[in-house]
Amino acid sequence: MFKALKELNVYIKPYKRLYIIGSLITLLFALTALVDPYLTGRIIDAILVDNDQSFVIKGSLIIIGVTMFRTFFRYQFFMKFEEFSQNIVYQLRKDLYKKLQGLDFTFFDRTPNGQIMSNMTGDIEAIRHFFAWITHVSLFHGAVFVIAIISMLIINPMLTGLLVVIVPFIGILSLKLSKSVKPTFVNIRTQFSRLNTVVQENISGNRVVKAFAREPYEIEKFQKENIAFMERNLESAKVWETYLPALDAFAILFNVIVLFLGSLLILNEQMTIGELVAFNRLLWMINNPLRMLGWLINGSQNFLASYERVKELLNEESRITQKKEPVNKKDIEGYIRFEDVSFHYEDLPVLDGVSFSVKPGETVALLGSTGSGKTTLTSLISRFYDATAGKIYIDDHPIEDYDIQTLRNNISIAMQDIFLFSDTIEGNISYGVPKARKKDIRLASEIAGVNEFIYQFEEDFDTVVGERGVGLSGGQRQRIALARALIQNPSILILDDTTSAVDMETEYKILTELKKVNAKRTTFIIAHRISSVKDADIILVMDGGKVIERGTHQELVDKKGYYYDVFTQQMGEFDDMRKVGA
Ligand code: GTP
Ligand code: MG
Repeated sequence: MFKALKELNVYIKPYKRLYIIGSLITLLFALTALVDPYLTGRIIDAILVDNDQSFVIKGSLIIIGVTMFRTFFRYQFFMKFEEFSQNIVYQLRKDLYKKLQGLDFTFFDRTPNGQIMSNMTGDIEAIRHFFAWITHVSLFHGAVFVIAIISMLIINPMLTGLLVVIVPFIGILSLKLSKSVKPTFVNIRTQFSRLNTVVQENISGNRVVKAFAREPYEIEKFQKENIAFMERNLESAKVWETYLPALDAFAILFNVIVLFLGSLLILNEQMTIGELVAFNRLLWMINNPLRMLGWLINGSQNFLASYERVKELLNEESRITQKKEPVNKKDIEGYIRFEDVSFHYEDLPVLDGVSFSVKPGETVALLGSTGSGKTTLTSLISRFYDATAGKIYIDDHPIEDYDIQTLRNNISIAMQDIFLFSDTIEGNISYGVPKARKKDIRLASEIAGVNEFIYQFEEDFDTVVGERGVGLSGGQRQRIALARALIQNPSILILDDTTSAVDMETEYKILTELKKVNAKRTTFIIAHRISSVKDADIILVMDGGKVIERGTHQELVDKKGYYYDVFTQQMGEFDDMRKVGA
């Protein structure tokens, strides 16, 4: 616990003041809890023993006054702790989010979304609960316990002594309870993250679910996790329930001892009735904290488990590391050189000894069977992953020498798997350049062929597209993705299968427009169609992670190898394209 608090100190420290003020008010609140039992006892004794009825009114008025004050204190410390906890988790959430933004692709490849979501919600809530509630409730009950014991000792040391003997038993029971309950909490959290993952995937994949009429299967899959979640909670409750009767028994034992011995003491005139009433009230003040102990330990365990998970995420380091003193270069020209580059995902080899070089203004085309490593090859240029062997140079500097942000600012990618945000089309296009001028957005849209379809929407550029761009055709989404890449005016442009879903005529127009603006740019075109790659300065034909052929269109056709085969296969389509004016 101390370790966790020490590690969290950076978050706690700025708000220590709130904690200290809140704690002082809490202590005052605990201290004033004594007024009620004390005065109640006094009032009873005033009537029954001293026959002094004037104290009844005075005492009652004081009780009312103090109660009102206590209500005010209560509000005060609640607010202080609430503010304290909200500030801590606000900062923590902010740091977590920032951390997430900084993590590399491998992290997201191996971490389910549901887990990240439950880190950001459930775990953060458990931490907030600890600082907002556990902190002051334990302080309050701790203080009340001590104050009550002292008061009881003053009233009757012997009776108190007897009760105190029982205290350790209740304490031990509470501790045992918390120990047995801890693993059940860990299980609940793990299951919660599984449940989250299922829901999240179902929602994102709802179109696939519907298309394959797999709703019953999805419901069953969810139901399985849902039942498991319920079971984990019930297991936890079961542990609780085995301990609660024993805790209750101790509470009753307290009462019985006090009533029995108290009555004897009164008969022997060693105690007044008022004292017994006060004592009885104080009894609740020591029993309550003991009963709360389980909850408090529970909440603390929960906090620790959540903190461990959050810490794991906070300590997660991007595998893509950055040099302390990166190359001082803001604008990349676009010379790229791959020297014997190999790459594997975990243990799956994907690229094998790839070498090529390209100059600004040139276009490299990558063609090859699916899964041959084309997307992966371009991912290395942006350092989404680092090559496992070989070197990549950009403008003659090893790629690792660049500041990552600078590097990526100079590269634009129209990705194969297009993601559009729930925003307007204009917002999606200008995503990389939020301050883009209308003129530039229109120009990028013109080149990307967005203009050809945008005016069919009533609100043209202001049309909002759904979370995953629902409402647009595949080809329309590709064109928006292309405009989004172009607007950054990058030195290196990567088009991953960007025109595969547009018709040949539109593709031809787009490629022609691109050629005009790409005079100084290094462009990568990944495609399966010969029509998309035939004008490239160099075509790399890939297979199984290797470049198996390279050259210009003509050279490769003359070579009569793999490229030639693909070319002859697609010849029919190619002829069609010629008819439209290529
Ligand atoms: P197409 O886009 O289908 O034409 O294929 P591609 O040439 O772009 O292939 P890509 O580079 O995407 O993938 C090459 C190989 O890497 C394939 O065998 C994939 O299964 C594998 N691969 C791709 N992405 C990942 C990943 O994130 N993790 C792992 N473990 N393997 C991956
Ligand atoms: Mg690909």
